[in-house]
Amino acid sequence: MRLIFGTILVLSCLVLYTQSVDRSKFKTCAQSGFCKRQRDHNPGLPAYKANFDTLKVENGHLSCEVVNTNNSVLFKLDLYLLKDNRFRFKLNELQPLHPRYEVEGVVIDSLVEEKFQVVRKDSNQIELKNGLNNRVVLYAYPLKAEFYIGDFLVTSFNSKNLLKFEHLRTKPSNNDVKQEENAEAPADQKPKDDEEPDMWEEGFNGHTDTKPNGPESVGMDINFHDFEHVYGIPQHADKLALRTTGSTDPYRLYNLDVFEFETYNPMALYGSIPYMLAHNKKFTIGVLWLNAAETWVDIKSNKADKSIFSKVADFISKSNEIPQVDTHWFSESGIIDVYLMLGPKATDVFRQYGQLTGNTPLPPLFSIAYHQCRWNYNDEDDVKNVNAGFEEHQIPMDVMWLDIEHTNDKRYFTWDSHKFPNPDKMMENLSSFGRKLVTIVDPHIKSDPNYHVYSEAKEKNFFVKDKTGNNYDGWCWPGSSAWPDFLNEDVKNWWASKFTLENYKGTTLDTFTWNDMNEPSVFNGPELTFQKDALHLNGIEHRNVHNIYGQNFHKATFRGHLLRSNGERRPFVLTRSTFAGSQRYGAVWTGDNTAEWEHLKLSIPMCLTFSLTGMSFCGSDVGGFFKNPDAELMIRWYQAAAYQPFFRSHAHIDTKRREPWVFGDEAINLIRDAVHSRYALIYYWYTLFYQNEKFGKPPMLPLWVEFPEETDLYDMDDQHMVGSAIMIKPIITQGATSVDVKFPGKNEVWYDVKSLRTYEGGSTTTFSDITLSTVPVFQRGGTIVPYKFRLRRSTTQMADDPFTLTVCLDTQNSATGQLYFDDGFSYNYNKTNEFVYREFSISNNKLVSRNLSPESQLKTFAWLERVIIYGVKTQPKSITLENSEKQSTQLQFSYDSNSNVLLIRKPGVKINTDWSILIS
Ligand code: NOJ
Repeated sequence: MRLIFGTILVLSCLVLYTQSVDRSKFKTCAQSGFCKRQRDHNPGLPAYKANFDTLKVENGHLSCEVVNTNNSVLFKLDLYLLKDNRFRFKLNELQPLHPRYEVEGVVIDSLVEEKFQVVRKDSNQIELKNGLNNRVVLYAYPLKAEFYIGDFLVTSFNSKNLLKFEHLRTKPSNNDVKQEENAEAPADQKPKDDEEPDMWEEGFNGHTDTKPNGPESVGMDINFHDFEHVYGIPQHADKLALRTTGSTDPYRLYNLDVFEFETYNPMALYGSIPYMLAHNKKFTIGVLWLNAAETWVDIKSNKADKSIFSKVADFISKSNEIPQVDTHWFSESGIIDVYLMLGPKATDVFRQYGQLTGNTPLPPLFSIAYHQCRWNYNDEDDVKNVNAGFEEHQIPMDVMWLDIEHTNDKRYFTWDSHKFPNPDKMMENLSSFGRKLVTIVDPHIKSDPNYHVYSEAKEKNFFVKDKTGNNYDGWCWPGSSAWPDFLNEDVKNWWASKFTLENYKGTTLDTFTWNDMNEPSVFNGPELTFQKDALHLNGIEHRNVHNIYGQNFHKATFRGHLLRSNGERRPFVLTRSTFAGSQRYGAVWTGDNTAEWEHLKLSIPMCLTFSLTGMSFCGSDVGGFFKNPDAELMIRWYQAAAYQPFFRSHAHIDTKRREPWVFGDEAINLIRDAVHSRYALIYYWYTLFYQNEKFGKPPMLPLWVEFPEETDLYDMDDQHMVGSAIMIKPIITQGATSVDVKFPGKNEVWYDVKSLRTYEGGSTTTFSDITLSTVPVFQRGGTIVPYKFRLRRSTTQMADDPFTLTVCLDTQNSATGQLYFDDGFSYNYNKTNEFVYREFSISNNKLVSRNLSPESQLKTFAWLERVIIYGVKTQPKSITLENSEKQSTQLQFSYDSNSNVLLIRKPGVKINTDWSILIS
C-alpha cells in the first residue's frame, strides 16, 4: 500500500513537473503568521531603548543592554568594528528562556579592527570611528545605528523603528498573549498586531506546524541613504535591480523546490542568500542579514514608489529630494545579526564579503568548460554515443552527466546494473577522451534496511527527527525516505566517507558530483519541504536552520571529494540549494527553468545576482529544463551561456533529445562556434576565477561594477561584463533583426574583434544586420586578453596549445591584462607554487610580459603564437622581440590601415618567460 502511494506520489510529482507553478502550494505573506505580524508592525511610540549605563567599549566592541519599553524584556546589543571597513550589529535576548539559534559555519573571519576610536559620547549618543575615518553613531532612544563613510550617511538600522524582537515565552492560557506582550504599554499605544491565532500553531494545506516555542520572529529596518538601487538576496526569478514590494509580497527567502517557477516575482526559490548590496555614484555597500530561518524582505523607495504625477512634479520643480531605499527584514526565529561591508567601491565590498564568508575556490579547469547533461542518459551505450556525437561533430565538451536514473532505484552511490553494468569501463572510455563524468547524489535516503547508506545512518542515529523524535519520514524520488542530519559534523564526515574510491564503486578521480533536491525537497511535506518542527542535533528545530540545510549537505559532499583524492584534487560539486557562503563548496545552477525566451533572458540577472552575492560559479540549464526549445532558442541560449560562468545543457526526462546535432547543420555549426568561443577564452575565464579566489571579484559582472558612475547602467541586466575586458549583449529575443548595444565609459573605446570595428564609449549603437550567427561581444580598449584558438575536443587537450594575445589599445595607446594557469586540477598551485601568473602591458609601443608572482614555477610548453594589436594608428617599420636571454629577433607582421589592426606572427617565446616586443 505504502509502495503504491509512494509510486503515485512520485509519478504525480513527475507530472507536476510538466505543468506550471501551482501557487497554492506555497505560502503568501498573508498565510504566514510571523510575516503578517512583522510586515504589519506599526511601531507607534518607539519601543526599544539602549541603556547606556550598561555601555562597555573594548577593542572595537561596544556592548550594552536594550530594553523593550513595552514589556521590559531585556536584550543585549553587540556592535563590532571589524577589520577592513566592516561592522557587525548583533541583538539577542539577554536571558532567553533557552538559547536562541545563532548561525554556524558561515562567517569565517570577523576579526575586530584595532584602530578604533570613541569620537564622542553623551547620554543619548555614542560615536565610534574606524581606522578609515568611517563611523557608526548609536542612539539610545529611539534605538538606531547610523553608519557613515566619511561625512556621508550611507545606511541606518532601525531608523524607522521597525525593530520587533519576539521574546521567547511560555505558552499563555487562552487570550493572554496580547496582555503579556503589551503589559506595560499605555492602551492607546499598544501594537494592534500581537494577538494572532497562529502564534502557537499554524496550519497550511493540511499540514500543522506545532511551534513549540511560540512566536520568536525578529525583524528590523535597514535603510540606504542616497541610494536608488539595491541588489542581491537571491534566489528569485527577477530583475537584477530589486523592485519595490509595496504592491507585491516581500521577497521571500525560504529554500523551496518550486517546479516551473514563474518569472518576475518575489516568490522563494531553491536558494537563500540574505545579502544585499546598494550602489550609487560614490559608494557600494553590502549588508548580510545572517539568519537561516524563513526570511522576507520588503523594499520601498521614495523615488521608485512615486506616481508618475509626482515624478513629473519633481522634475518641474527640480526637486532635490535625496533618494532613499528602505528595506525591512524579518525572519521567523534566531537572532538579529547583521554584517555591514562599507566598501566604498564594489571591488572592496567583494573582498570584504569574501573575507567574511569565503571566496569561490579556484575550480578545476574542466568544470568551467562545457557540460552535457540530460535527465537521463539512459545507459552506457547512450553515454558512449553522445560522447561519439561530440567527436563526430567536433564540438568541444568536457563533462557528461548522469541524472537519478543511473542508480539502483534512486539509491545514491549505486548503479542500475542493467543499464550501467560496467561503470568502470564507461569511465575509462570517457577518460580516454580527456572527459569527466558527474553523477547525481541527492540527500534523501531510500528507507530500505538493505541499502547500506540507510542502514548505517539509521544505526548511527544520523537522521533528522520528526517532532516526536522518530526518524523523519518523507517522500522523494525513491519513495519513502529519510534525510541525514547534515548539520551534525559527524554526519558530514560519515557522508564524506561514502565518496572514497573504495566506497563509491564504479567511479574514478574523473567522477564528480551533482547535489540536487537539497532545499530539502520533500514531495509530501508542507510547501514541498520539511516540517518546521522537525528536529536536528541537540534538539534544534528545523525552522532555525532550514535555509542552511542544503549548504551543509553540499559542504559534506565537498569534503567527500577532498577525501577521495587525499586532498590532492580540487572538488567540483554542483548544488541547487544555497545560503551565504555556499560559494566555498562549488557551483550553482538556477534550477528548473523552461525552454522559453523569457527564461533565457532571466538567466542573466539571476546569475548576476548570484555573482554579486558571492555565489559566482553560476549557470542555468542551457535550452531550458522544461519543454522543447526550437533551434533558434537553442542556438541563442548556447551563445549567451558561453559567457556565463557555469555552462551546462540540461533537459527534463519528458523532453525530446536535444544534443547539438539534432537541430540540423546550421545549428550544429553555430552551436560549435558558441562552444568554441568559450574554449578559446577558457584561460581568460580561468584567470578570472583565480582572481575571484584571491580577491573575491566575480567573473560575471553587471556593467555598473566597471562603470560605477553611469546611472543608466544601474538597472541594466541584458548586457554584462566577463571580467573587466569583455562585454556581451546576448541576443535573447526571438527573430531578432536588430539589437541596441550600449557602450559605456567616457573616453573608452570598444572593439568588435570579429568585425574589427570600433565603438566609442558613451554611445549606443543599433546593430541592424543581425543574423543567427551574430553574438555581440566586445573587448574594451585598454585590455589584453589571452586566447587559445585551436579547436580541441576538451580542455585536457589544450594544455600545451599556444596562446594568442589580443591587445586592444585605449585612447592613450596602452593596455594591460593578466594570464593565470596551472595544471588545472590539483592544489600544487598553492602547495608548491606550480602556476603561471603574468601581466602583459603595452605603452609607448612596447609590449612587456612580466611575472606577477616571482615564486611561481610551473613547467609548461605553451608558447606565444601571435599577438594581435587593435587600434594601431600608424604602419610600423619593424617589430623586435627581446627574449628572456636579452636576445633580439625581428618578427614578421602585417598591418591593415583600414582597420588599424597589427598582426604579429610567431613571437615563439614560452609564455611563462619575460619578454618584450618593441613596435617601431
Ligand atoms: C530536479 C532538478 O532540478 C533537475 O535538474 C533534475 O533533472 C531532476 N531533479 C531529476 O534529478
